[in-house]
Amino acid sequence: MSDSEDAQLEARLAEQDAFEPPESFVEQANVSDPGIYEAFEDDWPECWERAAELLDWERDYDEVLDDVEEPFYEWFTGGKLNASANCLDRHLADRGDETAIQWEGELGDTRSFSYAELHREVNEFAAALRSIGIEEDDVVTMYMPMIPELPIAMLACARIGAPHSVVFAGFSADALATRMNAADSEYLITCDGYYRRGDALDHLSKANDGLDGVEHDATTVVVDRLGPESEHDLGENQLDYDELVADHEGETVDPVTRDAEDMLFLMYTSGTTGTPKGVKHTTGGYLSYVAWTAHAVLDVKPEDTYWCAADIGWITGHSYIVYGPLALGTTTVMYEGTPDYPEKDRLWEIVETYGVDQLYTAPTAIRAFMKWGETYPDRHDLSSLRLLGTVGEPINPRAWKWYYKHIGGEECPIVDTWWQTETGGMMITTLPAVGEMKPGSAGPPLPGVSADVVDESGDPVAAGEAGYVTVDRPWPGMLRTLYRNDDRFVSEYWEGYSDPETDEWVYFPEDGAKIDDDGYITILGRVDDVINVSGHRLGTMEIESAVVGVEGVAEAAAVGGDHDLKGEAVYVYAILEDGYEESEEMEQAIVDGVTEAIGPIARPERIVFTPELPKTRSGKIMRRLLVDIANSEELGDTSTLRNPDVVSDIQERSR
Ligand code: WT7
Repeated sequence: MSDSEDAQLEARLAEQDAFEPPESFVEQANVSDPGIYEAFEDDWPECWERAAELLDWERDYDEVLDDVEEPFYEWFTGGKLNASANCLDRHLADRGDETAIQWEGELGDTRSFSYAELHREVNEFAAALRSIGIEEDDVVTMYMPMIPELPIAMLACARIGAPHSVVFAGFSADALATRMNAADSEYLITCDGYYRRGDALDHLSKANDGLDGVEHDATTVVVDRLGPESEHDLGENQLDYDELVADHEGETVDPVTRDAEDMLFLMYTSGTTGTPKGVKHTTGGYLSYVAWTAHAVLDVKPEDTYWCAADIGWITGHSYIVYGPLALGTTTVMYEGTPDYPEKDRLWEIVETYGVDQLYTAPTAIRAFMKWGETYPDRHDLSSLRLLGTVGEPINPRAWKWYYKHIGGEECPIVDTWWQTETGGMMITTLPAVGEMKPGSAGPPLPGVSADVVDESGDPVAAGEAGYVTVDRPWPGMLRTLYRNDDRFVSEYWEGYSDPETDEWVYFPEDGAKIDDDGYITILGRVDDVINVSGHRLGTMEIESAVVGVEGVAEAAAVGGDHDLKGEAVYVYAILEDGYEESEEMEQAIVDGVTEAIGPIARPERIVFTPELPKTRSGKIMRRLLVDIANSEELGDTSTLRNPDVVSDIQERSR
């Protein structure tokens, strides 16, 4: 293409604000009938049988939805199934030799598991887990990076009915301890280390530090990822994965029959308070929902090579690297490392090598690719791609269009999928073969999902006005409760907009949004004290308590400020105790304190020392104002502050 043609194309793209799904895609799509929205509406909640039908049930369910005890909804009650059997055993006859997991290490080493091989590994490890005493309903914690043993361990647990609780490997030792304690988890599966940008990272020491903070005895299984080059010692109650599995070579374990409503896993996530929330997902509803959305939205077919470039340590990886794709019997790609190692074309090299059909990633990555420039994707043949997806934070239209043009070659639909740890799977997105795409807007709620944008009193806002997302009907993938905290479950998600008197239960995801005349929802971001850094969810309270944990810090506020690549970055405003100096050492101590308490993802972008924090008359920190200061924006009304004078001082110090 000549430069002038290219410039014309750029100009056209820049102006275009709606895109039709490509013909070639529509023709082959799993779901292409626009009537699906109405069909779900007319037949709700029975419409969700379509999701359940994607699974094999050992016993049929009696009821699709049980709403006797709202908001403690139950789905597919009476049904019995096993998640591991659905992800493995049932594919053996037809797809035993097809690749289930295609793994690539950061150094270029590869491992691939056919369904038959994965089945074998999972069975052996399930037998091993049983042999060390793990029983049905014991919570097993996993603290592992992107290595095949992580999904193997998850499926092995699912096989024996032991719920897993995966802690993101980038989280700190403290974070691991908090989560193991909260769940009374007596088993940990971890590894010696992994590679990041070519360096071998020691992970086991961090895991061991975490174990020091666990209040009860725990048995640990350690995977040897780094091999003989890196020696590691095992402590008391620590077992080597390979040795343990070798003792159970060739053994099989019958999948335990689980109730649809039995817990499949827990996932701890951040909220308004300092204590992480243990989001509980179940076997029948969750698995049906992720299989259905992977089928309808990601257009996954068994013969595809599908790649979600997220980390299994977050919900995106649970739902769309492990459970959704494996339930559908496809090939799921796993990559251990970073996208810029050894070079900035690593992702495109992987797409080309394996002939990836669908790529699902986050806006933060797309913005980085855009910054690096199209020379990197241009080096590779990306024509195998059929669909692109994005998730985790709002995507700006410019990044959307770049993705559409330079990665999708204008031939792949993009699905901008809004959902949360709590929702289990996607909620708001276009269906890729139905309806147009509008860059920057996630789209309408999925068929069967009832979401709206409302004002403070719960009334729908006019098109274009800002309001809050609400969901006024349950869905199969929904969280069932917060583990051991039903009260918090009700107060966090249901109290804001529900009217128990009239039995109207409305789920509040704590996101701001607007809606257009076509019912397309544009997500504006969190309205609670949660910061979204590169699609990772962090609680401001957790960061603040880490900062005040540093010797010499009297008080602190953490907020999210805009960041070109990360979406949001952490800004810390700290008051020091008398006798402590506002120094670089103090800044470093705060950075270290936060990294140690939470992990490197929470590392503050900027630390501003201040003698005071802006507070309302009732003593609440006015975070909104600090966000404006971080973003160097005009400040709104400061008259309600108890100490308005402090504002210009903080602004001055922030420059
Ligand atoms: C929060 C949930 C969904 C899995 C990864 C994050 C934000 C998520 C989008 C999107 C705009 C989005 C929301 C949501 N978010 N997807 N497509 N557009 N914002 O899961 O850690 O539970 O975070 O991520 O603010 O509430 P999570």
